Amino acid sequence: MSLTGKKIVLAVTGSIAAYKTPQLVRLLVKAGAEVKVLTTRAAADFVSPLSLATVSKHPVLSDVSDGSTWNNHVELGLWADVMLIAPCSANSLAKLANGICDNLVCAVYLSARCPVFVAPAMDEDMWKHSSTQNNLNKIRSYGNHIIPVGHGELASGLVGEGRMAEPEDMITFLTDFLSATQPLKGKKALVTAGPTYERIDPVRFIGNFSTGKMGIAIAEVLADKGAEVTLVLGPTSERSQHPGVQTVRIESAKELYSESTKAFENADIAVLAAAVADYRPEQMATEKIKKAESGLSISLTKTEDTLLSLGKIKRPDQTLVGFALETTNELEHGMKKLVAKNADMIVLNSLKDEGAGFGHDTNKITLLTRSEAPESLPLLSKKEAAIAIVNHILKLRHAE
Ligand code: CTP
Repeated sequence: MSLTGKKIVLAVTGSIAAYKTPQLVRLLVKAGAEVKVLTTRAAADFVSPLSLATVSKHPVLSDVSDGSTWNNHVELGLWADVMLIAPCSANSLAKLANGICDNLVCAVYLSARCPVFVAPAMDEDMWKHSSTQNNLNKIRSYGNHIIPVGHGELASGLVGEGRMAEPEDMITFLTDFLSATQPLKGKKALVTAGPTYERIDPVRFIGNFSTGKMGIAIAEVLADKGAEVTLVLGPTSERSQHPGVQTVRIESAKELYSESTKAFENADIAVLAAAVADYRPEQMATEKIKKAESGLSISLTKTEDTLLSLGKIKRPDQTLVGFALETTNELEHGMKKLVAKNADMIVLNSLKDEGAGFGHDTNKITLLTRSEAPESLPLLSKKEAAIAIVNHILKLRHAE
């Protein structure tokens, strides 16, 4: 497994082993990761920030603020799929263990919601000291992962324990960890997202306000978990750059239907999050419709219902998830859709909830399944909601 598409924040602290970090960055990038490097001030005595910026192709940040700009540690913490602190000096380890926050590395560490890996590096006596070992146990108990130190020649000239793991070994450690967290490796998924446009004439259409953000977030979480994802995406300026997501652009309900039906055949999981128009003009005018004295009526005809038709051909090994956007009797209508469309789960959105629905970066959802009571989730970011949806899909598939 590679690190394709993984966003890694590498925090370099003050230890002689920092001289190995440009090579570490090169290997991470070669394995497919995007790397942003942070340093403590002491780290810059051991490795040149310019070298790290050159190999990572991103500026190296070392302060919470650089004069007039504020380096948003919360954003960096959220951006990262993985934070790697290498080398981690005895001093930085003590700060991490005690929640001290006097530099950017500590601030990003405290803000990070992703797995954090720590590769300690110090002299053997420092390594074996009870306070260091206590600090290690503490940060391990917080859920961080320690990359074991090596044995060999140390900066003091002594031979012993405390060397930072070699860059190649760190890559192996990370990839082993990440492959264990990819339960959908080898699986295929279909996701539909965004609105559809149904043409009235060459310049007008029937559409809706969907941005596709929720479906894109689901596609990316499925890909993070190892699935090969086909994203059938309607007209929106949003897009996915995740290497595990292959996007097929469509415009109308008819195109969404045909592309989704094609991809469904080989899919293990399908999540239909698109806001598909239910009607299209019976006929599209070939020329622009001119304004007339009287009003205008357009005859509409029903579009293909992709979820309904996939529900009819669904195999027992496939998991089919639909969305329902309701404004009244939400639970009742949602449950009806679950049964009528033969879905395994319906993600229910209510337009009444503030922060939910089209255009927002947050969503408030309820998960409806056949076997369990409805699960209402609090207001979450669309990424967090996507993680909850995908975890629920995994639970459903596991329970089969
Ligand atoms: N859907 C679809 N094709 C359509 C209409 C809807 O695949 N032509 C899918 C949506 O992607 C969603 C689910 O069906 O997963 C429910 O969509 P929604 O618009 O809430 O329900 P409808 O069946 O259209 O019912 P109504 O609009 O009457 O509530």
